[in-house]
Amino acid sequence: MSRKNDDFFVAKREWSKVKDDLLGCYLKPYTSKILFTNKPLMYVDCFAGKGKFDDGTNGSPMIALGIFEECLRISNARTPSISSCFIDSKYAEELHVNLSQFSNITIIDGRYEEVIRQILENKVNYNIFLYIDPFGIKSLDFNLFKYFGDIRCNSIELLINFNSFGFLREACRALPVDDVVRNAYEDDAFEDEVDNDEEMFEGTTKSINELSEIAGGDYWKDIATRLKKKLISSYAAEKEFSSVYCKQLQKKFKYVLSMPIRLKQGQQPKYRMIHASNHVEGCILMFDNITKRKQYLGDIQTQGSITLFEMNVENEVVDTPSIRLNFIKHMRQYSEFTNILKVTADFIMDYGVVCDPKDIRVIIANLERENAILVRRTPCINNNGTPYKSLIPTRGHIIELRNR
Ligand SMILES: C[S@@+](CC[C@H](N)C(=O)[O-])C[C@H]1O[C@@H](n2cnc3c(N)ncnc32)[C@H](O)[C@@H]1O
Repeated sequence: MSRKNDDFFVAKREWSKVKDDLLGCYLKPYTSKILFTNKPLMYVDCFAGKGKFDDGTNGSPMIALGIFEECLRISNARTPSISSCFIDSKYAEELHVNLSQFSNITIIDGRYEEVIRQILENKVNYNIFLYIDPFGIKSLDFNLFKYFGDIRCNSIELLINFNSFGFLREACRALPVDDVVRNAYEDDAFEDEVDNDEEMFEGTTKSINELSEIAGGDYWKDIATRLKKKLISSYAAEKEFSSVYCKQLQKKFKYVLSMPIRLKQGQQPKYRMIHASNHVEGCILMFDNITKRKQYLGDIQTQGSITLFEMNVENEVVDTPSIRLNFIKHMRQYSEFTNILKVTADFIMDYGVVCDPKDIRVIIANLERENAILVRRTPCINNNGTPYKSLIPTRGHIIELRNR
């Protein structure tokens, strides 16, 4: 571990708060819902840290355990059951102290990549949630993600902190330097783009093979070469690389969403939070969650000043007319009535998180009004006898869309 990471737990930084909010605000509705499957939940915090920061604020283990306690207390599920496992290669002792008030937890003093397969053995009946929050990229072997995707269980979801920009930095270092590159590339090309502090470095240079194992292929070489030759900006390279990385994950997980965490507009993200699941509900829940965090992050980025245009999570202007055109195109595949959540999740898988859920609902409402698509609501009337018009499915209501 780099010395730069030593002060990580002294006090929680702004970007860690965004990360923790994303985790906490997702885990609450996720847990309430998953308990109703009446199958046990196994939560694994694969890089758990100390449990608490030295300034007393909760780390990811305390955040999750607080949520689980509350969900178990109020759940109406028949057989609610949650077990949690916390892995850390350095802070197991601190975890024992800080988590001593909780039961049904396991603390493992070890390395995630060495112990995770054993932890997940024989979990056929389980819902599994893995929180993967390392300092850098070193431990993120893509083969393990493939393995998770193949595991036999009731459901599995991952939330990964992926330092995509850190990866590209390593990639540029690892690639051989030819003459063209030598002229174009300055080793400090990254320096003015991002704060050079912790979480970025692991103090080692990775080999080409190691990088391909992390990326899940060698597609990164082309992107890093273009970056080195200055044929694309580092901003564009990070975006392209992350997008292909998510596509690799999509070979094993149907729904993959990514949110860049950048503290200043136009700056490289500190990291990306990547969510992978096979369930529409998980994808939509995270889509909502990302949107809410985006507003908070936007306030940090603009320091409270008002922006003229609505921006999406990638800090691009929300281009409503083209999103509407793409949605119309997207609808052509639905010749049968299909759940609105699935239509929405498939749309963001194809086009990215280009806007907020509410923007998509406005587009659907307009298309319904214009008779361009069909909307079927079951039941079609509310308890008080009035027509059910909402586009937000609630318990007992199904909303489906079909192309005309
Ligand atoms: C970014 S911190 C995790 C912070 C934690 N999620 C929180 O919110 O409090 C990364 C942690 O991973 C641990 N670590 C580093 N390499 C590891 C590995 N291979 N396996 C498990 N833990 C590791 C470090 O000791 C450190 O506590």
